[in-house]
Amino acid sequence: MSPRVEHEVARGEPFDIEIDGQPIKAYPGETVAAILIVNRIALARTDAADRITRGYYCGMGVCWECAVRIDGRSVVRACKEPAVKGLKVETCLDVGDL
Ligand code: FES
Repeated sequence: MSPRVEHEVARGEPFDIEIDGQPIKAYPGETVAAILIVNRIALARTDAADRITRGYYCGMGVCWECAVRIDGRSVVRACKEPAVKGLKVETCLDVGDL
């Protein structure tokens, strides 16, 4: 069962993004963090110094615990990144302190 709210919600046409090589359905207006949560992907990154896993925490772009890599280059906050068709997301980055 999807944790997306379904009752009385109108969504646009779904599209696929890729998370760690897997195709994942997304909807217009969703952030990458929302898609991670809906798909029960709890871990966004690993801290390089102490190897502690990190994930969604503040949900408003402050903590950087949700850092993911987008399209093989930019490291962004998943909670601030809108999903767009064809986006490629890598989780569990070893990016150290941000
Ligand atoms: S959850 Fe804190 S910046 Fe994304």
